[in-house]
Amino acid sequence: MEWIILILGTIGHVGLWCVVFNRVHATAFPRKFRKFSEKAILVIVFAPLFWAFYLRIRIPGNTFADVISLPFITYYYYGSVGLGSLFVIRWLYRKLFFKLPNNVLDSQTERLNLKRELTGPLLHGNVPRLLGLFPFNEALLLTRQRMTIELEMPPALDGLKICQLSDLHFTGEVDISYFERVVEEANRFQPDLVVITGDLVDHAKCIDWIPKTFGKLAAPLGVYYVLGNHDRRIRSETYLRKNLHDSGLIQASANWHEIEFNGDTIQITGNALPWYRDAEQLPEQPEIDAGLKILLSHSPDQLTWARQRDFQLMFAGHTHGGQIAFPIIGPIVAPSKYGVGYSAGTFNFGKLTMHVSRGLSGDETIRWGSPPELGLFTLRSNQPTSANLKTP
Ligand SMILES: [Fe+2]
Repeated sequence: MEWIILILGTIGHVGLWCVVFNRVHATAFPRKFRKFSEKAILVIVFAPLFWAFYLRIRIPGNTFADVISLPFITYYYYGSVGLGSLFVIRWLYRKLFFKLPNNVLDSQTERLNLKRELTGPLLHGNVPRLLGLFPFNEALLLTRQRMTIELEMPPALDGLKICQLSDLHFTGEVDISYFERVVEEANRFQPDLVVITGDLVDHAKCIDWIPKTFGKLAAPLGVYYVLGNHDRRIRSETYLRKNLHDSGLIQASANWHEIEFNGDTIQITGNALPWYRDAEQLPEQPEIDAGLKILLSHSPDQLTWARQRDFQLMFAGHTHGGQIAFPIIGPIVAPSKYGVGYSAGTFNFGKLTMHVSRGLSGDETIRWGSPPELGLFTLRSNQPTSANLKTP
């Protein structure tokens, strides 16, 4: 029993600081502050261990019970046990009751090991190369995720194919050939529309990759994008947006776009809050008779914003599926106010369906249990076609 209480206390203590980590990283606080908080949290997480050892060494014969009987530590320890129990209950609830929404009619995953397929070095720099040697590192294991989703939309839009790319993070650490291959795979899907949900270019030295990668994406209805928090590292937003525009990409945010497909209208906009304020300056939503309203958001945290505006479909990224998902436990950190609740996958909220991509790369070239994702979504209308209505 003592061990169970100790385990629950540890889960509560680590879990509490993961909650703090996730919330801090969901904000637009300066990068320096977030990096400092990461280190501080790491110290706090391991502090009790060192503290207990220190007390045992300082007072010979001191037991674990003596250590936790110190004022404040007792409160913190039993508080952590309570919190740990709540985390375990919530985790069990998610494990037992989470399932793909009913409107996901089909889901297929195909894996491509680009580390094996592409010739030449794919990782540059000492740390990325070292991380690349870690067993089971999935950073270059691309998954082609195809889904068929049924939505409340007119039959004219039935069959619309949307390809999502997210979180490519051009840092120069992952070779351009990886991203060129991703684009090739995206074009093989032959989508009608391509959406990119933020974190495109981390380093200015990779700006000239844009025409060779994003510029090659092909879709008759266009390639729409929003920026993400990492894109703020490019000092000039105007310069980045100009390069994206010159390669044929359309900025989804700051405007309501209307796209015609099969005689019907698709309304699309973007939201990169809290890092870019475009969504706050959006003109009033035009009251047009759009068959489908799509939101591109960098973070799943804009879910409430989407629900208030009557979207049927929301694409997001940012969380990378936690980047490291432990067997059975799953991911424990994700930069979202919802924690790991929406770190990756498809979720339904009545009329709105949200898909959160695991993204295609990252700041650190390590992924376990959360391989890069390239998504294709074929939409199905839940309304009968006029041909069907005539059938007795
Ligand atoms: Fe990202």
